[in-house]
Amino acid sequence: MKKTIAVIGAAGNMGSGITTNLAKAGYRVLIAGNDQSKLSSLLTKIKSNTPNADVEIIDCSKEASWEADIIIPAISYQAQAAVASKIKDVVTGKIVISLANPLNDTYDGLLTGATTSAAEELAKLLPNSKVVKAFNTVFAADFNTPKLGGNTFDVFVAGDDEEAVSEVSEIVKDAGFNPLAAGKLAVSRTLENMMLMLIGLSMKNNYNWLAGWKVLHNA
Ligand SMILES: NC(=O)c1ccc[n+]([C@@H]2O[C@H](COP(=O)([O-])OP(=O)(O)OC[C@H]3O[C@@H](n4cnc5c(N)ncnc54)[C@H](OP(=O)(O)O)[C@@H]3O)[C@@H](O)[C@H]2O)c1
Repeated sequence: MKKTIAVIGAAGNMGSGITTNLAKAGYRVLIAGNDQSKLSSLLTKIKSNTPNADVEIIDCSKEASWEADIIIPAISYQAQAAVASKIKDVVTGKIVISLANPLNDTYDGLLTGATTSAAEELAKLLPNSKVVKAFNTVFAADFNTPKLGGNTFDVFVAGDDEEAVSEVSEIVKDAGFNPLAAGKLAVSRTLENMMLMLIGLSMKNNYNWLAGWKVLHNA
């Protein structure tokens, strides 16, 4: 049986893409966020496309995280500490997926500097959970179009717990992307910079926020 996943900030750009694709893949998805009416609209949309989707709105992030096996805070880096303090007591031993990119206001730099990352900062805030980086190098629109020109976008997965990395890799695959285990959690520093660069490229070349990374390789 598929695991239960809590998506916090589910009505946002990333949260709705993740929720939609994971619900379609058969996961039980518990959705939480600030705005209940936006969550209701998302639920209606998902149910109209996938009538048997197992998606439930949960009033608070802590309750959703308590009930879930895996937690995805689909929120900004700036909101990370507040959400972490809410869920801290109920995520012991659980996987928490970091998809945040700690962008500055002008989208041309990271708030974290070179010696840490949003994912590592989340791990410090949640020392008893297994934080894994994933999904930060794809755009929200990619969830609707995870394949372009015959290539499925890669999603880099990084974490210090190998089992957690392989579990998240399965989730990435089920969400429609190609998972690539990229190393320890500290690799998030690179992954977050990769998205910073992709955002710059997207703005410069008008990719319309539909772009991603693909590692081409021989065999
Ligand atoms: N957008 C992308 O293409 C993309 C790509 C890769 C990674 N990311 C990363 O994904 C994360 C989310 O980005 P996004 O573009 O999806 O942002 P977004 O559209 O603004 O969504 C964020 C969601 O989080 C909710 N939220 C904010 N604070 C919360 C709290 N304390 N508790 C519960 N819910 C809360 C917001 O609700 P309200 O709006 O109602 O306040 C909103 O629904 C960011 O860290 C970003 O760096 C984004």
